Amino acid sequence: MEFHRLIGERRSLRAFSQRPVEPEKIERMLEAARWSPSCANRQPWRFVVVGHDAPSRAAVEEALDPGNAWAKRAPALIVAGGRREDGAVVGSRDYFLLDTGMALMSLLYRAVDQGLLVHPMAGWKEGPLRAALGLPEDFTPAAVVAVGYVGKSGDLDEATRKKDEKPRARKSLGEVAFRSLWGEPFGATLPARPAKVYETELQLRFGDTDAMGHVNNAKVVTYLEFGRVRFFADVMGAERVEDIRFILAEVSCRYRIPILLHDRVFVRMHITDVHRSSFRFRCDLFDPRDGRVFVEAETVQVMYDYATGRPVPVDADFLAKAREYICG
Ligand SMILES: Cc1cc2nc3c(=O)[nH]c(=O)nc-3n(C[C@H](O)[C@H](O)[C@H](O)COP(=O)(O)O)c2cc1C
Repeated sequence: MEFHRLIGERRSLRAFSQRPVEPEKIERMLEAARWSPSCANRQPWRFVVVGHDAPSRAAVEEALDPGNAWAKRAPALIVAGGRREDGAVVGSRDYFLLDTGMALMSLLYRAVDQGLLVHPMAGWKEGPLRAALGLPEDFTPAAVVAVGYVGKSGDLDEATRKKDEKPRARKSLGEVAFRSLWGEPFGATLPARPAKVYETELQLRFGDTDAMGHVNNAKVVTYLEFGRVRFFADVMGAERVEDIRFILAEVSCRYRIPILLHDRVFVRMHITDVHRSSFRFRCDLFDPRDGRVFVEAETVQVMYDYATGRPVPVDADFLAKAREYICG
């Protein structure tokens, strides 16, 4: 999976299915963690993997806070932490927990890359966790990570389900990143990952279906094109097709469920990435009545000068309008 997509797909959701996790997937996660950077290459991170049938499993579950009871369904729990003396100390700065955190992040992304759901937790009691796993006294457990596959949110109790349904929130870039001096907001120019996603309905036609009785896969690209044209009209104010100065350069589609004529199909799309002369849309075709996603797609469009036949840099007006729409 491409990295920008991994970042978008990682979510700390709570509904786990009981489908077991393949041991090799866990191994790849640990391997990703092993290759993380660490201060002076001290590699202070340590992980304890606790599967469903591990003798220590019941005691680890017992150590979880009641608010994290949902994690008991996860087939694997991984405890991550480190020892101060295994890490580097530079002046007054201890690096073992920073290194462990970085290794944990690699582990999480490798999990998502393999289609897994991972959820790190700080909500557990340290004494019982130490006792359950026989952790050395000088070892600092930092997080317990629930690992498994996404389950049905309907299986969660209401309070937990509500947590999963809460919209994701992040501080703005200017609050967390400064330019030149502390407190001077970084001042982003690119569109951020959106709080708002563009949506428009598609009209299916009888002629879109093929001999298999569902919408032909090739038609899906036309649907994406239609979404793009509507986006440029509604968001960018393009009144005519000639006002759209981008040309389609790349499309990739993952067909998840066949689209049938009686389905209601919307396309939702947002900009995930802007480069010098191109930008990327992430798109889903979905049925708004039940949330089923038929197709996940990505398109890359290049800003193009039709007169010279050459790509040109993405203009500031486009970026400003995209930003205004996404953040507004
Ligand atoms: C160190 C750490 C501890 C966390 N502890 C808990 C926890 O005990 N229970 C829980 O439900 N979520 C926990 N979370 C998940 C965060 O709430 C979550 O990462 C945050 O809300 C952002 O959501 P996202 O991960 O889906 O982007 C923890 C996350 C981290 C990194």
